Amino acid sequence: PAPSWFIEADVVVVGSGVAGLTAALRCSAAGLRTVIVTKARLDDGSTRWAQGGIAAALGEGDTPGQHREDTLVAGAGLCDEAAVGALVTEGPGAVRRLIEAGARFDTTESGEIALTREGGHHRRRIAHAGGDATGVEISRALVAAVHRAGVETVENALVLDLLTDAAGRTAGVTLHVMGEGLHDGVGAVRSPAVVLATGGMGQVFSATTNPAVSTGDGVALALRAGAEVSDLEFVQFHPTVLFLGADAEGQQPLISEAVRGEGAHLVDAAGVRFMAGQHELAELAPRDVVAKAITRRMHEQGVEHMYLDARHFGAAMWEQRFPTILAACRAHGIDPVTEPVPVAPAAHYASGGVRTDLHGRTTVPGLYACGETACTGVHGANRLASNSLLEGLVFAERIAARIAAHAGGPLPVPEAAGAQVVALPPPEARQAVQRTMTRGAGVLRSARSLTAAAGELDALTAGKDRKSAEPGTDTWETANLLLVARVLVAAALRRAETRGCHWREDLPARDDDAWRRHLIVTLRPGAR
Ligand code: SIN
Repeated sequence: PAPSWFIEADVVVVGSGVAGLTAALRCSAAGLRTVIVTKARLDDGSTRWAQGGIAAALGEGDTPGQHREDTLVAGAGLCDEAAVGALVTEGPGAVRRLIEAGARFDTTESGEIALTREGGHHRRRIAHAGGDATGVEISRALVAAVHRAGVETVENALVLDLLTDAAGRTAGVTLHVMGEGLHDGVGAVRSPAVVLATGGMGQVFSATTNPAVSTGDGVALALRAGAEVSDLEFVQFHPTVLFLGADAEGQQPLISEAVRGEGAHLVDAAGVRFMAGQHELAELAPRDVVAKAITRRMHEQGVEHMYLDARHFGAAMWEQRFPTILAACRAHGIDPVTEPVPVAPAAHYASGGVRTDLHGRTTVPGLYACGETACTGVHGANRLASNSLLEGLVFAERIAARIAAHAGGPLPVPEAAGAQVVALPPPEARQAVQRTMTRGAGVLRSARSLTAAAGELDALTAGKDRKSAEPGTDTWETANLLLVARVLVAAALRRAETRGCHWREDLPARDDDAWRRHLIVTLRPGAR
């Protein structure tokens, strides 16, 4: 549908997590007319669900160099070293600027930022807030800062497609807005710079730690616009998600790695600790190592979950340090103070995304990507715990600096949406995509499971199951999920090795000769 209203801006930021809000604040502070468009409310999205914290070399004796080493090891040979260098060296300053913007982190008795540990970190390096409610605090502080700065926002606005000018440069985005007064129905923001910060795509699987809004919208838009997308096969499965039954669907409660960081043990169905001996860091091994060890043990014992035992924390520590997790467990009838918590891996984080350079630029002029939507190269084949909030902060600042340095000139004239969502699958296809992906492209994959998944997704895309549906958030999202699922499965099938969080049951070895490289995807024009 053609846009029925337009907003004009120097930059439009799509999404309102740590990456989007930081980019918008910095652009606005640089004097740019900035508009934030976000699919639900400003504080929806993944950021507010972050528990463990934000990693940065803030502690005494810690250095960006040590943070760099841990990041590179977790990334299993595929990190971009320059991007990691930017992350770890600019990280501490970015966290301090976040504090200046109003975020309040937990402190020690002497007033220093309190730091915890998580998987893959060789030292305490994770700043946290409200015990285990770090994301809530970051989101609160940034939303308040955006309001104070008077940045224009449009909520309930699902981004559809990129607008381009006659030269193929970014000219804005089209949006579908539901019930926002003046801005209702399909409209557009005309702008020479677009920052995609739409978060992840966890909803492509049945069970995920991601909220319902994480449907890969930015990656799908970028694919349709002809931008390069990279590393989509590297989906990180968080090892310890509260197990609510094998059929549980949608967003599942996370049990932060910080619980292990503070000394919780993983035990199997027989009550035996099984991580010691598997890795020098035992329960604090990188996330992929722990998720694999849990999955293996579940298969060996023929059970659906393992346990996380932190009874030794006692009630006071649970209440003070992990109030959110305690409440979530108790809401499901489990008391971590008196019993081990059933846990299993679930989809958590997209290490890949829209490919960018060190300034957040994608391969389409004027189009930027930031946060989980982006693939800056800092995560490689497996993101280091708590590097994601940091990446959002650091690269948002870089993007804003870049846009501000090149702003000016007339507003572009949109020639056409570069590519558009043309056909919409029915909303019920969403569950079919999720089940297909969980069966075929989950924590354990093989050529066989992936080929079957690819066939099912093709059938949903073009075959007899395809019906045209009414445009609406559900249907646009389902179209996006279907597109990113297909690209993810194709990449997972092509990567003929096991590396980081991509675990091929049929090809269990890492193959550095053939596969120490990225899989970069662009959509053929017309292939939507
Ligand atoms: C957690 O708290 O375990 C999640 C941290 C992360 O995903 O980086």
